[in-house]
Amino acid sequence: MRTIDWNDGGIDLVDQTLLPETLEMRHVTELDDLIRDIQRLAVRGAPALGVAGALGVALIAASATDVETARVDAKRLREARPTAVNLSWGVDRALKRLEEGPQAVLEEALAIRDEDILACTSMGLYGADLVRSLVSRDKARVMTVCNTGGLATVERGTALGVIQTIFEQGWLKEAQPIETRPLLQGARLTAWELQQMGAPFRLLVDSAGPFMLARGSADAVFIGADRIAANGDTANKIGSFSLALAAQRAGVPFIVVAPESTVDMATASGDDIEIEDRGSAEVVAIQGVRTAPEGTDTINPAFDVTPHDLITAIVTDRRVINIAHGETLASVDYGPTRTS
Ligand code: MRU
Repeated sequence: MRTIDWNDGGIDLVDQTLLPETLEMRHVTELDDLIRDIQRLAVRGAPALGVAGALGVALIAASATDVETARVDAKRLREARPTAVNLSWGVDRALKRLEEGPQAVLEEALAIRDEDILACTSMGLYGADLVRSLVSRDKARVMTVCNTGGLATVERGTALGVIQTIFEQGWLKEAQPIETRPLLQGARLTAWELQQMGAPFRLLVDSAGPFMLARGSADAVFIGADRIAANGDTANKIGSFSLALAAQRAGVPFIVVAPESTVDMATASGDDIEIEDRGSAEVVAIQGVRTAPEGTDTINPAFDVTPHDLITAIVTDRRVINIAHGETLASVDYGPTRTS
């Protein structure tokens, strides 16, 4: 199954707000609907947002009356969510072909879709080899946050893709997703994906994650990324930073898995990354059921930034950067996209 694809002149996407109860596709042909779907997290996860951005430009190009209006529309799309660099990256890459016409834009968007599929396989292989070198047990127990699986990409996933690879290779003891308040991507989406795979897992509430790392419950923590700054600081779902702090104290490897398209060398450090605040509604209620008194004020950062000194390694589709050994994004050369 593909989480997002192009069919019949429009975008097919899994409506992730309905999971785990209902698996339903939406067919999107209007830019405003796509922007709304991005903002309400019907489509989400950095790599999937990159594909959504590029396919969105294909929608724009197909109905554009002139190049200038198309560019204005593309700007609205690229600003739909600010933190994941993949969205603006996908929009900008497709936009470069605008003057060649709608077919060229669509070709570029489909190339981004196809590259994502290959990148996820490659990250799984690089990541699994890395865990083998770091974990001394026969079978690995891996903690993770949010959803970084096939639902966050086109087919297979980044951090959860590594966990899937380890499972397929026969040495996953247990995955431990944290539930990921406020929108429960860990509980609703990651638990659902692990169940679909038939992989062993147990779900934890967010606040149990750091303590369970201190108690030695996991051999590694794997997270995805929404934006990796040039110095390796990594923005990812809120809750990543507290796991990183706890992992460091417990001596547990903390590994970031993301495609090269999530690396943003134009952003010097995590301090420069804009963090989306998603407002009150998600904090004062859980899935529509009010949990805080009427009128409660909130703070709702959708992401946090893990400083690079808490990260053991960054795994991309082209390389492994061993931050703990002093390697940097600038110092490690690109290798092949792996298929085996
Ligand atoms: O708000 P979301 O659900 O889009 O947040 C997603 C994450 O934080 C993921 O960990 C990240 O995008 C990487 S997805 C492979």
